[in-house]
Amino acid sequence: MHKRVPVIAANWKMFKTKDEALEFIFAVNGHMPSTDQVESIICAPAILLNLLVKREGENLRIAAQNMHYKDEGAFTGENSPAQVKTAGAEYILIGHSERRNIFNETDEEVNLKMHAAFKYDLAPILCIGEELDVRESNQTKQVLDNQLEIAFKNVTKEQALKTIVAYEPVWAIGTGKTATPQMANETIKDVRSKLAHLYGNEVAMQIRILYGGSVKTDNIEALLEESDIDGALIGGAALDHNNFLKFVEAAKNK
Ligand code: PGA
Repeated sequence: MHKRVPVIAANWKMFKTKDEALEFIFAVNGHMPSTDQVESIICAPAILLNLLVKREGENLRIAAQNMHYKDEGAFTGENSPAQVKTAGAEYILIGHSERRNIFNETDEEVNLKMHAAFKYDLAPILCIGEELDVRESNQTKQVLDNQLEIAFKNVTKEQALKTIVAYEPVWAIGTGKTATPQMANETIKDVRSKLAHLYGNEVAMQIRILYGGSVKTDNIEALLEESDIDGALIGGAALDHNNFLKFVEAAKNK
């Protein structure tokens, strides 16, 4: 069986000024475990990428939160994949539920962004998740399968292996409602079985699948104890650098 290196990704969303970002990065640099123990990632606003990349310690990685899928063009206010890449980001968050729900991103756009990421050698952190009514009407598996099928359309096995999937139930994001570790694990097992269906078991067993949605320092350990949860994508609670260090420490012990 393959060991999947755990991932802790902090999603800063539209938080932190330049000074706050620097304060955070200087506080955590030097405390990050080696990347074969934990992949520690900050998903930063585009305008801070370059600043953070220049100051990241050797075991910290920087991701962008969004990008356009086109190479370049007249898209005022957008960032191209090449701009993200040349700012030094190594990962790209794709299809976060706030992008899907507030900025109307579709599954098809998510797929185009996946292909743009591979073209520019950015590792995607692909977010999927169901709304509350979907969960309550027992349609979760169907909805997630559909999101995965479209996101991975024409994505090769080699590319799939570079992808990190983040399962984030929409009803748990920023609400303080977390899926129980058992519920999250069961759903993540379903996600892995869909990936096995698309790419075979060997590949599916190597893809990291994270849980996200109201992860806190007091529930991270229970989540990480579950067999199929390979790490976490954390918003609010990871804005504090001491908490970020606690999350990374918890993942180190997985
Ligand atoms: P939250 O956000 O941890 O604040 O719920 C998670 C996310 O949006 O990725």
